[in-house]
Amino acid sequence: MSSEYSTRSRDIKPFLAMDVLARANQLESEGCDVIHLEVGQPDFLTPAAVIAAGKQALDLNQTGYSNADGLYELRQAISAFYASDYNLEVDVDRIFVTAGGSGALCLLSALLTDVGQGWILSDPGYPSNRNFVTAFSGDPQLVPVTAETRFQLSARAIASHWQKNTKVALVGSPSNPTGTTIRLAELKAIYQVVKDRGGYLVSDEIYQGLEYGPDARCSALAVADDVFVVNSFSKYFAMTGWRIGWLVAPEDAREPLMKLAQNLFICPSVPAQHAALAAFSRESRLEIEANRLELERRKSFMLSALRQLGFKISGDPDGAFYLYAELPEQFKDANAYCSSLLESSYVGLTPGDDFGGEQQKRFVRISYAQKYARLVDAIERIEKFNS
Ligand SMILES: Cc1ncc(COP(=O)(O)O)c(C=O)c1O
Repeated sequence: MSSEYSTRSRDIKPFLAMDVLARANQLESEGCDVIHLEVGQPDFLTPAAVIAAGKQALDLNQTGYSNADGLYELRQAISAFYASDYNLEVDVDRIFVTAGGSGALCLLSALLTDVGQGWILSDPGYPSNRNFVTAFSGDPQLVPVTAETRFQLSARAIASHWQKNTKVALVGSPSNPTGTTIRLAELKAIYQVVKDRGGYLVSDEIYQGLEYGPDARCSALAVADDVFVVNSFSKYFAMTGWRIGWLVAPEDAREPLMKLAQNLFICPSVPAQHAALAAFSRESRLEIEANRLELERRKSFMLSALRQLGFKISGDPDGAFYLYAELPEQFKDANAYCSSLLESSYVGLTPGDDFGGEQQKRFVRISYAQKYARLVDAIERIEKFNS
C-alpha cells in the first residue's frame, strides 16, 4: 500500500531530534529527571502582554479568517520593527504573515521551485529546509561548511557549487544548528554571486533578535530589496506554539505569493495574529530583552564548560541558543554518544547526523535554552559520563 504514496514522501528524511525528544519524554514519564538540551525552543514563557492579547482576541470573537497575507496592523507592526530595530524601510506590501517560519518556507518552496531545480543549502543546516525542497520536487544541493567560514555559506562556496539547475541559495543567520551568524559584507558578496547567476537569495532569519554582539545583528534586507527573508515569532518572541511567522518578498512576488497563500493556508491563525501584535509593545520588548541577556549569560557558561570537557566548539557562536560541538577525541559516533548519554545520565542532545552528511557524525547540537541551574547540572552529568 505505502509504495503507492509519492516518491517525494518517501524521499523525506525523518527528523532525528524528534526521536531523541520522544525517547527523552518517555524516560521522563517513567520518572527520570531528564535535562532537555535537545530542545529547539526557548524555555521562556510567551510575554505576558501577548498572552493577554490572545485571550482578548478570543473574548472579542476575533476568530474568523483574515486576508491571506495577514492582518494589516500586524504587517505594519512588522514593518515598524524593521525600522526601529534594524533601521530598514520595508514596505508593508512586501510582508506576508505566515503559519510560523515554516509556513513562509513552504510558500517560498512553492514559489521558487520547478521540478528538478536546485537549492544550495549549507551542510550542516536546518533539516526541514532541504526537506521542503524535496517536497516540492526540487534538488537540495548541500554544500559542506566548516569552522573556517564560521559554519556559514560563503560567496566563494556558493559560486563554486552553483550548478546548471541551481536557482536558489538559502542562508541561515543566526544558524540552526551552529549558532553562528553571517557578516553583512559576506551577505553582500553572496547576493552578488547569486544575482550574477540569475538566481534568488533566501535568508532564514528565524533567530533574528537572538544575537550577542553588534556584528551579529544584520538582515539580508539591508543588502537589497529583491531578496526573500523568512522570520518568525517562535524564537526571539518565545511563541513557538502560536504558529506565527512572516515572509518579506520582492514586490513582483506579491501576486503569486498571494495566490499560493490563499490556496495553501487561507490565512494564518487570527487569534494568534492579534496576540503577536502585542509582542512589539514596550512591555513585551523589555521582557524579551531580559531573556536575550539571560541566554547570553548561559552561552558564556556553556561555551567554556564544554570546552573544558574537551568538546571542540569553533566559529564564535554569536546567535540563536545552540552550540555545535565536535565530540571529545575518545568518542567517535554522535548518535551512539547521544543515545547512551540519554539512557544513562538523562541528558538529551541532538546528534549532528540530523543536520547534514557524513562529516556531521562527530558533532552534537547543544541547546542552552534551559534554566542556568539545569545547565550546571547537565555539565556535571556529562563530565561524569565522559570520564
Ligand atoms: C532555522 C529554522 N528555520 C525555520 C524554523 C521553523 O520554525 P517556526 O515554523 O516555528 O517559525 C526553525 C525551527 O526550529 C528553524 O530552526
